[in-house]
Amino acid sequence: MAQKVYIETVGCQMNVLDSELVIGALRKHGYDLTDSPADADVFLFNTCSVREHAEEKTFSALGRVRLLKRDKPGAVVGVLGCMAQKDQELIRKRAPYVDMIVGTGQLAAVPELVAKVRATREPQLAVSLGRSDAGRNEVEASFVSYDPTRDPSMRPTPFQAFVRIQIGCDKFCTYCVVPSTRGPEQSRPPEHIWHEVRQLVDQGCKEVTLIGQTVNSYVHESGDRKTRLSDLIAGMHDIAGLERIKFVTNYPKDMTDDLLDAVRELPKVVKYLHVPVQSGCDEVLKRMKRNYTAGYYMDMLARCRELAPGVSVSSDFIVGFCGETEESFQKSMELVRAAKFKNSFIFKYSERGGTKAAEKYPDDVPEDVKKRRNNDLLAVQNENSRADHRAQVGTTVEVLVEGPSRREQSALSGGRKPPVPEPASAIMQLTGHSMTDHIVVFDGTERLIGHTVRVAIKDASPFTLYGDVLTDEVVGADVSREPQASAVAPRPNKFSLPLV
Ligand code: SAH
Ligand code: SF4
Ligand code: F3S
Repeated sequence: MAQKVYIETVGCQMNVLDSELVIGALRKHGYDLTDSPADADVFLFNTCSVREHAEEKTFSALGRVRLLKRDKPGAVVGVLGCMAQKDQELIRKRAPYVDMIVGTGQLAAVPELVAKVRATREPQLAVSLGRSDAGRNEVEASFVSYDPTRDPSMRPTPFQAFVRIQIGCDKFCTYCVVPSTRGPEQSRPPEHIWHEVRQLVDQGCKEVTLIGQTVNSYVHESGDRKTRLSDLIAGMHDIAGLERIKFVTNYPKDMTDDLLDAVRELPKVVKYLHVPVQSGCDEVLKRMKRNYTAGYYMDMLARCRELAPGVSVSSDFIVGFCGETEESFQKSMELVRAAKFKNSFIFKYSERGGTKAAEKYPDDVPEDVKKRRNNDLLAVQNENSRADHRAQVGTTVEVLVEGPSRREQSALSGGRKPPVPEPASAIMQLTGHSMTDHIVVFDGTERLIGHTVRVAIKDASPFTLYGDVLTDEVVGADVSREPQASAVAPRPNKFSLPLV
């Protein structure tokens, strides 16, 4: 019988993709995936270190698995990803029953390490070279980057996939662990990325999300050819069957006009920019080492909206960073009021060992103040989100239908609806994203899942648009799995690379 592997993933899209790649590799070695820990022989935890809360989540999951392991002495427990990279010693101390610790750069070795644990019962440790010069040259070789066997069943949906275009980060914001957990910034060669996108599209994928910690800093130089993110996107834009190209997350200082031109002019590019500001106060931004001022950010935002009209923008904020006074917090309040983000992710500062901030500045904002500031900022953002969503009422948007809505899914799993199979013509509540990354909910049939439809927006909450499918026809008559023309006629390509 095939051995079963159970995996839990926390953290960002990088981790979601890494888990997909690890499971793909394990399947190649005869493993099956299970979502029930009781059935598993191998337990993997793909971890995040960005805030203390994420780490505690992993330690409590490990605590639960310890009990299971007592009954299954042959089981293998592995900690993967950012915590593995950063805290091997702590993991060994707090969870000595962990059999393998595998850093972000060594994930390709997971099948081999599982086999070694099995054969020797010796703990296995594999972490990458970190930020040394050798680390800078690791590039794709040691990173699990692309493997055609990557596991589609782990994707957000069968027709959406993440594609890593950049590894690591060189920005060193003072609060952040990512440069040490993911190593130096490296941009993958464009040919590899285009090849990967083509293969994904051949597998039925319609939307790719290009991911990098500062994705718009992507640049690949080879001889005298320089490929920027805009060129990379242009080079994949006309792949038949590919409908949408997204990219996250952007760094405010690297938001160049050529990229905004691409967002405006290339119809498959999603009109959405996630550009975290982190704070509205210049002194705080300086201590964070973000390398811009609030004024610079607001000018950049104006440029985004001028060069890519209709683009929606979201942001991240950290509240209660070291030395954030009430006055400096009020500057974040002013910025969020003025910026009119579609949505914002707001985090309470969490001191991280090994970062510059932990070394240089005391974590001096009390927890209850962080909490209050978090709520205050959220309240203003929610008002703006409501206004942003309400402004869409009366418009018609294109939605790539992802599947049953959350309400529908919980009705199915809560037994309030008969389990499948329902007739394909049964009406259910469906969900998907618009081209501006708004979540849209509407009624339709199962048949629409995986297709792009037009939805007339009738109502809105701060986080969701509600509407009616205009016709039962899908945009571009895209009902077969045959490669098809894009929903919108491609425009002439003015970027510098040949099309693939
Ligand atoms: N690379 C992305 C973000 C990576 S981490 C970027 O630079 O935009 C995602 C978000 O977590 C950050 O934008 C920041 O808002 C938050 N974050 C990072 N470190 C944090 C810390 N120590 N405490 C609280 N929030 C943090
Ligand atoms: Fe962290 Fe800053 Fe790099 Fe983002 S840009 S990953 S916040 S160091
Ligand atoms: Fe977390 Fe690592 Fe991503 S620290 S946010 S999983 S890069």
